[in-house]
Amino acid sequence: MVKLTENPFKFGNPVHGDYYFPRPELTNTVRQFLSNHIHVVLMGPRRFGKTSFVFDLFEHIEKEGYVCLLVDIFNVTSHRDFLHQFLRALRKKQRLKNRLKNWWKKIGRLKPHLNLEIDPHTGRPNPSLGFSLGQLDEEEVRAGIQDLLDELTNLGDKVVIALDEFQQISQLEDKGWLEATVRTHFQKLPNVSFLFTGSRKGIISDMLNDPSRPLYRSCQIIEFPSFGSSFSDWVILRFRMVGVKCSTEAINHLRALVQDTPNYVQMVCFHLVALARTAVDIDDVEEVLDTVARQNAYAYQTLLNSLTLAQQRALRLAANEKHSLFQKEQLVKYEISSAPALHNSIKALKIKGILDEEGTAKGRVLFDDPLFAYWLRISFPM
Ligand SMILES: Nc1ncnc2c1ncn2[C@@H]1O[C@H](COP(=O)(O)OP(=O)(O)OP(=O)(O)O)[C@@H](O)[C@H]1O
Ligand SMILES: [Mg+2]
Repeated sequence: MVKLTENPFKFGNPVHGDYYFPRPELTNTVRQFLSNHIHVVLMGPRRFGKTSFVFDLFEHIEKEGYVCLLVDIFNVTSHRDFLHQFLRALRKKQRLKNRLKNWWKKIGRLKPHLNLEIDPHTGRPNPSLGFSLGQLDEEEVRAGIQDLLDELTNLGDKVVIALDEFQQISQLEDKGWLEATVRTHFQKLPNVSFLFTGSRKGIISDMLNDPSRPLYRSCQIIEFPSFGSSFSDWVILRFRMVGVKCSTEAINHLRALVQDTPNYVQMVCFHLVALARTAVDIDDVEEVLDTVARQNAYAYQTLLNSLTLAQQRALRLAANEKHSLFQKEQLVKYEISSAPALHNSIKALKIKGILDEEGTAKGRVLFDDPLFAYWLRISFPM
């Protein structure tokens, strides 16, 4: 139970416990695949709760004897970064530290003059204190990654390795080396199941649906589902715990405005509680969302300025119109020269990660950041 003084909403970081609205069906589905050694790609928009979900899943399956490891590779720019993130994840797990030491010894043999950080208490090298990967050259880093992946099989009888934002492994300009290396380890590690999460639909589809790519059809893709109506009930209940009366319409309206992104739902609700509102309706939700969006104006303006004029117009169109983007009247209204020009702008915006595939409906696009779309709508109303 939340104490009365605590805000019942949280946003930004992954959430646990009371702050987490469970997704039991998804948990069961993913668990079934993983236990049958079917690797899973969980694909969903940014800030949709992917990492929180993985933590929650781990909590469940660790009770069943799984050894689980979550490696965040969102900002990885090189193989060395990748190795570093893997080691960081291992280091966080107290029980896995011995494994880490074994691996480090191997690497030490590879590079005998490597400086280990010295444990001030024992005077001995202590791999858990830190690594100076900077001294490894590319070839050694690659050997290190292969070794480390080989080691995963020794972590336990049943192992799940989650790579968060895994599409990043395809962005390293290494001619597919890391993708292929991961793929090879699918076969090499019979007791290890991989759970990949990712937000860039376009990139992920290319990785998994192109026969010439290493990961072609090697994983089960699951689309991260939106919450059902019970999520609104949960939010209203959380409000009630701190004495705030909130209407269902208000929350449903909020969910629609932010493309059902739980992070933004919780963020707006957090502010409403912080503002000490005693009742919340549609107007209150919009007022707070306006404020929050305007607080990001500087970042959004900078982003806009980095785009061509044609791309900026395409964004206004996409933010204001829900469908039929390519219709003649729409193009005229937003001063877009032609349908192919719009197509090119949208393509460029997808490569930049500002827009993403919508999947089902044609003539529609999705904003990576629905708050940016909202800001565009209030800043450039049509
Ligand atoms: N199951 C949930 N119940 C309630 N709120 C949630 C849930 N999942 C996510 N959220 C909200 O979304 C926020 C972001 O969650 P999380 O970091 O897990 O998402 P993500 O998809 O991993 O985000 P990112 O794209 O930034 O990596 C949380 O702080 C919380 O406010
Ligand atoms: Mg995440």
